[in-house]
Amino acid sequence: MHTVDTSATSTSLIIGASSEIGQALITQLLAEPTQTQIVAVSRNPLKLPPSVRTIICDYTPEAIANVGQELSTLAGSFERIVICNGILHSGAIQPEKRLEDLKLDNMAEVFRVNSIVPALWLQALAPSLRSTTVCPVVLLSARVGSISDNRAGGWYSYRASKAALNMLIQSAAIEFARRAKNVKLVAFHPGTVDTPLSAPFQGNIADGKLFTAAYVAKRMLAVVAQLPADGRASYLDYAGNTIDW
Ligand SMILES: NC(=O)c1ccc[n+]([C@@H]2O[C@H](COP(=O)([O-])OP(=O)(O)OC[C@H]3O[C@@H](n4cnc5c(N)ncnc54)[C@H](OP(=O)(O)O)[C@@H]3O)[C@@H](O)[C@H]2O)c1
Repeated sequence: MHTVDTSATSTSLIIGASSEIGQALITQLLAEPTQTQIVAVSRNPLKLPPSVRTIICDYTPEAIANVGQELSTLAGSFERIVICNGILHSGAIQPEKRLEDLKLDNMAEVFRVNSIVPALWLQALAPSLRSTTVCPVVLLSARVGSISDNRAGGWYSYRASKAALNMLIQSAAIEFARRAKNVKLVAFHPGTVDTPLSAPFQGNIADGKLFTAAYVAKRMLAVVAQLPADGRASYLDYAGNTIDW
C-alpha cells in the first residue's frame, strides 16, 4: 500500500506512466525547479525515483474508480494531468490495412484502451478537478484520429478509436465548462515518436520527423502551459498547431 503526500501544493498526474512519452514527462518534471508532486499510474511497477508516487491499476472500471477515490485527497491540487494510454498493435492486434482484416475482439480491445479507459479516467477524476487554477488535462490522441484529415485510410480501429476519444473529449469539455471551469481538455498529437508503439512503422518517416520522447515531453509541457481554460477542448500537435477535428 502506497501513501500519497497530501501536504504537497500541486500535483502532476501521469496515467499510463510506462509509456515512453509518460516516462519522459516524469523525467522532465523531476528536472524542473518548481516543486510538484508526481503521481504515476501504471499496470506494472515502474523504476522511478522514490519521490514519485506510483499507483498500480489494471484499468478495470472498478480499479479506475478506486484510484479516483484515493486521489480525491488531492482534490484541488492538480496542476496537470496526462493520460497516455493507447495501443496500435499488441500481440495478435495489428493495424488493419483493409476491411477483411477487421476482427471484433481486436477492435473492442483497441477501443477499450484508446477510447473507453481514458473516458473512465475523466469520470473518476472529475470530482477532484475543481480549483481556482487552470488544470490542463492532456489526452494522448493522434493526428490519424482526425476525421477531416483522413486521406490514407487503413488503421481502422486505431483511427476510429482516436476519433472516438476526440469526441469523448469534446463532450467532456462541454460538461467541464459547467462543473469545473478551470479544466482545459487537450487532445494531443505528439508527432511520430520513437517508442514501442511506432517501432514497426518507422520505415517511411522523413528525416527529422521521428521525435524522441524527451523532445515531445518538453513540447507538450510548453504547449499546454500557454492554454487558457476557455471551456473548449483543443486538438493540438507538438508544435502547438491546431488540428482540424
Ligand atoms: N509513438 C507515437 O508515434 C505516437 C503517435 C501518435 C500518438 N501516440 C499516442 O501516445 C500515447 C503513448 O504512446 P507511446 O508511443 O508512448 O507508446 P508506449 O510506450 O507503447 O505506451 C503504451 C501506453 O498504453 C498503455 N497501455 C498499453 N497496453 C494497455 C492495456 N492493455 N490497457 C491499458 N493501457 C495500456 C500503457 O500504460 P501502462 O503504463 O499501464 O503500461 C502506456 O500508457 C498513446 O496513446 C499513443 O496512441 C503515439
